[in-house]
Amino acid sequence: MSELNKIALKIISNGKGILAADESNGTMTKRLEAVGVTSTPENRLLFRETLFSSESMKEYIGGVILYDETINQTTKSGKSIPKLISSSGALPGIKVDTGAKDLANSSEEKITEGLDGLRERLKKYYDLGARFTKWRGVFTISDNYPSKLAIKCNAHALARYSALVQENKMVPIIEPEVLMDGDHSSNICLKKTSEVIKKCFDELTLHKIDLSGIILKPNMILAGNKSKDKISNEEVSIKTLECLKNTVPSEVPGIAFLSGGQSEVEAAQNLNLINKNNKTKFIMTYSYGRALQQSALRIWSKNTEDRESTQKIFNHRVKMCSLAAQGKWSNELENK
Ligand code: G3H
Repeated sequence: MSELNKIALKIISNGKGILAADESNGTMTKRLEAVGVTSTPENRLLFRETLFSSESMKEYIGGVILYDETINQTTKSGKSIPKLISSSGALPGIKVDTGAKDLANSSEEKITEGLDGLRERLKKYYDLGARFTKWRGVFTISDNYPSKLAIKCNAHALARYSALVQENKMVPIIEPEVLMDGDHSSNICLKKTSEVIKKCFDELTLHKIDLSGIILKPNMILAGNKSKDKISNEEVSIKTLECLKNTVPSEVPGIAFLSGGQSEVEAAQNLNLINKNNKTKFIMTYSYGRALQQSALRIWSKNTEDRESTQKIFNHRVKMCSLAAQGKWSNELENK
């Protein structure tokens, strides 16, 4: 078993998953302002530190994805954030892309940037304690999109990123996110997501990536958020499994889904059914941002010093996701 494979398995095995707390300052500002909190480095730290100190971290979280600001921050008690995360048994990770910019010659689409100087940044993050990384490519669905150009360019960037990350002894999370925005059907989502993931693996193979030392972070197969084609949770799980079975090479140890705008309960329910119906050997778990933090953020915003109430709601969410990652989630447990 390679060292990278061991790291990947440590993050996603035994019902553990990933807390995606890597919102850029811009995104975090929007989230904080939406609940009436001013976005300062201190407030961003306080909220995140409250989550990272929660009891549930020990049992259910295998890794936390951080943003550059957070990985460099220190708690009031003088502990660095990576140390706080490792003290719960989880591994610190870091988002290393620098965001999605307009793609030249296909201006409605995006290309994720951040390759320049990446090798040097990775060394710095490793020294700060990071053992895995994240890069997100983003794709929209419409009549003409995602274009072959966007699929190829983003897959290429994901592969070059992965090669540099593995060279620096960290596990790359490969996140090709096909957005749920639009009126497309779930079958179109299935077709486009499959095309995107296939191309990513073509490029990863070309760039000689050790596939046993990566984690794939895809979207689930859903109908567009403006579509009339509402499908059941059971169908979401079947189509998501069909997509992954046909596109992901067997060496990949696991898949950690993004929540992508699903509600907290929906994201747990769908993951639960994916695990109940899973006949593949892949571990299927969570790497949720909003679906782990939304309710906790709402409670925290009412009294930012009230750690207990925030942690209580966060602990419940994390536990529900962990149960879902083992196919043991139920409505009854959710509402207990
Ligand atoms: O890049 C996206 C995040 O890591 C996952 O966020 O679960 O809110 O979609 P989400």
